[in-house]
Amino acid sequence: MARPELATVILAAGKGTRLRSRRAKVLHRAGGRALVEHVVRAAQPLGIPLFVVVGYQAGEVSALVTALGAQTILQEPQGGTGHALQATRPKLGKFRSALVVPGDAPLIRTETLAALVQAHQASGVAATVLTAMLDDPTGYGRIVRGPDGFVREIVEEKSAGEAQRAIREVNSGIYCFELENLWASLGELRPENAHRELYLTDVVALLNRKGRRVAALAAGDAREMLGCNTRRELADVDALFRRRKMAELMAAGVTIYLPETVLIDPEVEVGPDTIIEPGVELLGATRIGSDAFVGAGSVIADSVIAEGAVIRPHSVVISSRVGRGAVVGPFAHLREGAELAAGARVGNYVEVKNSRLGEGSKAMHLSYLGDASIGRETNIGAGTITCNYDGVRKNPTTIGSRVFIGSGTELVAPVEVGDGAYVAAGSTITDGVPSDALAIARARQENKPGWARERRSRMAAKQNPAAATAKKPPRGEGDGARPKASRAKRPRAAKRR
Ligand code: UD1
Ligand code: CA
Repeated sequence: MARPELATVILAAGKGTRLRSRRAKVLHRAGGRALVEHVVRAAQPLGIPLFVVVGYQAGEVSALVTALGAQTILQEPQGGTGHALQATRPKLGKFRSALVVPGDAPLIRTETLAALVQAHQASGVAATVLTAMLDDPTGYGRIVRGPDGFVREIVEEKSAGEAQRAIREVNSGIYCFELENLWASLGELRPENAHRELYLTDVVALLNRKGRRVAALAAGDAREMLGCNTRRELADVDALFRRRKMAELMAAGVTIYLPETVLIDPEVEVGPDTIIEPGVELLGATRIGSDAFVGAGSVIADSVIAEGAVIRPHSVVISSRVGRGAVVGPFAHLREGAELAAGARVGNYVEVKNSRLGEGSKAMHLSYLGDASIGRETNIGAGTITCNYDGVRKNPTTIGSRVFIGSGTELVAPVEVGDGAYVAAGSTITDGVPSDALAIARARQENKPGWARERRSRMAAKQNPAAATAKKPPRGEGDGARPKASRAKRPRAAKRR
């Protein structure tokens, strides 16, 4: 078998001390994905074998990257980026060269990696470093070039003198190495630096000493190399991802107002002429059709919103489906398994879970619909509750088509209401309602004449017993009548004038 040319190595074993986190840096998320996932996805289209060096929280990082098709190499303990490369030797021994990428530079694009590989292979040098010109190079290794333009050494921030710190060309941490040369130099690394680690960057000076040349390729877009070493950088990188995604959607015909307040995950799809208002979050595997509307402050995750649907402000839609022209909100909550057929409507303070509303059916105010199946053109009155939980299990409620459920109804599941039936407001329905029947399930009303007025007099008498006895009018008129009497005097006085 011919010697395989090239392998990709992603370095993802470090803890990421500067994030001050218990979680490995590469597992932190920006732009809706773990940092290392972005890097793996950028490298994958190159079509070359992909290895990820894992160490800190190796189990979780491995699970993530192997699911994406990468192989892992364990670095234990983690002794620096040079040490990480040493750990790859048993698995990479048979390769001729390697593309090395840090797991914390998630903005890197496939095209840029391909350009580096191409430049390296064309030049025949021992190593090629991808570099960037930064206005503020703080924190990055500086590129020290010789008069011939080749790289003499890479100096880390903490070891750099004043003149070197002023260099604005920085090391992206992305390189191509001829492995035969690399293995030899890796063996000569010494941990003589601030972190007592083996720095991969020191290999550059060692190669120079052996008369090997190291080239630099300056990247077109410096932002691609941004690392996520601090929470500040993580937020900046996240914002760049969001802007990228938003720019794509806007270019495809989506209107987004105040896009800097909107958060859209990478896999989300939105059709043209859909309008997205400020403060919206579209997450996970959400798909939104064309001509739809998503109102301010709404959060939609893993849901399908059909063409022309309207999500009014401040609604939360999770793992649900909203049909063509359906209307949700404001302030509605569709939980997992809610399904609204075309033209169905769910209004304010309505929660729907694992329930289907058929075409044109409505639940406009203050309701809970759980484990319910509702036919078409049915009206669910304000404050209707499906009592789906009996303390042990969840039970279904089945409501037919063209049903009218009066306001304040409780449907104690399991229960069925047939097509065309009416349920009187305030009913507690525990038994099935046949088609076209009217069900009334509430106590009958009784009126007690004068009861309220008498109560008011009793209360007043209690508060002021003296006044009550002194001014008690004849013929048993209560105190409550006094305001009426004094009001009656006023018109008479006016007449006298
Ligand atoms: C590194 C470079 C620096 C460059 C910068 C670009 C070194 C010494 N410095 O610095 O010149 O400008 O990247 O972003 O290489 N890792 C391991 N095992 C370890 C240590 C780290 O796998 O033992 C991994 C980390 O998980 C990380 C990557 O290597 O994904 C880079 O490590 P990091 O500590 O972020 O290096 P920087 O200090 O940013
Ligand atoms: Ca870094």
